[in-house]
Amino acid sequence: MQSESIKAAKNVDQDRLWKRLMSMAEIGALPNGGVNRQALSNEDILARQRIIKWAKDLDFQIETDEIANLFIRLVGSNTSAPPVSTGSHLDSQPRGGKFDGAFGVIGGFEALEAIRCAGIKPESSIELIAWTNEEGGRFQPGVMGSSLFAGDISISDQLDVKDADGVKLKDALSDTLASTPDLLLRPFKSPMKAYIEAHIEQGPILEETKNKIGVVTGIQGLYWYGVEIIGQEAHAGTTPESNRHDALQTAISIIQDLKQLMHDETDTVRFTIGKFDCEPGSPSTIPGRVYFTIDFRHPEQKVIDNIHRKITPICNKHAGVCKVNVSQIIDCPPVHFDEDIMELIKTAASTIGHNHLLMPSGAGHDAGHISKLCPTGMIFVPCKGGVSHNELESSEPEDLVSGIQTLTACLVELANK
Ligand code: GLV
Ligand code: MN
Ligand code: MN
Repeated sequence: MQSESIKAAKNVDQDRLWKRLMSMAEIGALPNGGVNRQALSNEDILARQRIIKWAKDLDFQIETDEIANLFIRLVGSNTSAPPVSTGSHLDSQPRGGKFDGAFGVIGGFEALEAIRCAGIKPESSIELIAWTNEEGGRFQPGVMGSSLFAGDISISDQLDVKDADGVKLKDALSDTLASTPDLLLRPFKSPMKAYIEAHIEQGPILEETKNKIGVVTGIQGLYWYGVEIIGQEAHAGTTPESNRHDALQTAISIIQDLKQLMHDETDTVRFTIGKFDCEPGSPSTIPGRVYFTIDFRHPEQKVIDNIHRKITPICNKHAGVCKVNVSQIIDCPPVHFDEDIMELIKTAASTIGHNHLLMPSGAGHDAGHISKLCPTGMIFVPCKGGVSHNELESSEPEDLVSGIQTLTACLVELANK
């Protein structure tokens, strides 16, 4: 590892990193310490404006694209070479934590500033990316900005997607883009030399094994579906069993059967119904419509394919007098990260003095999509009790710094290679 890479890492400033993270956490702050900063909301716009201001103060170059991914660049000496990139997301779950996503963005910003403070001009530019709508809580699918950038989905299919209040993505997107009118739009799939994303682990392993750095080997496969059941609203007191088209009873039968399908002795399959709407939502009206989502995950494509094949037949089997529509929202296959990037992260962590562990990611990340475009990897840091997607999510400042020191060394090493 070159001495410049280590010098840059030594310039990572814990206080500056923590202050910026806490400043970002003010936007959409919730009473129990978390944030509600959903994609393309006013809070998301404020978050973008805050980081853009910091970037302008440091004279970094800033661009955006058609889905409002944000690119912040420390310009290298070879301006025509593709950048070495890092990043994550600023949007949150509706009751999310301060660190999921924000750590990778603010930490990436700290890496750029540390390199600048070390007086280093890297050969390739180094770029920070804040990907739009990673969480997918408001507009589905999640990992939207990175999937579009990688060419895995098309923007025309996303524009009419609505949030729970009926707001169309295209309107929220145009408000977001209008808030940064001076930024140039760059095309999707613009080249990158490499991509490394820093993230809190969102699980308990690093804390339990007392390791500072997770060298991420890959991401398990992630599939989402939407299931809509159309029944008929009717009076709860007067409608006999034989006349009921009860969407909720159909949903219950489907979900019980899905739970059996997903049962796994080895506890490897992950199965969640995270969104469930039942309409009209009145005690004395038989539910006429139910909509719920299925999120299931597994590291092996063979197992995923087997479950995938059975989902629609199970939903149809229990339809009875109701109508059932199943749509697939996300199909992210398992991802294996680049071996050379893993080696680099290991070398950087041990040169700086942080112990590390090779580990897969249970959560989905933008890095999964970007891995199709360039050599990609991820760095995990511990989070308290492994708790995430929860307002109580927390991480120690020293652990965050270890991750960003490692990231900074890797970025400089790659940029000078
Ligand atoms: C990302 O937030 C995921 O759901 O894995
Ligand atoms: Mn995340
Ligand atoms: Mn998340």
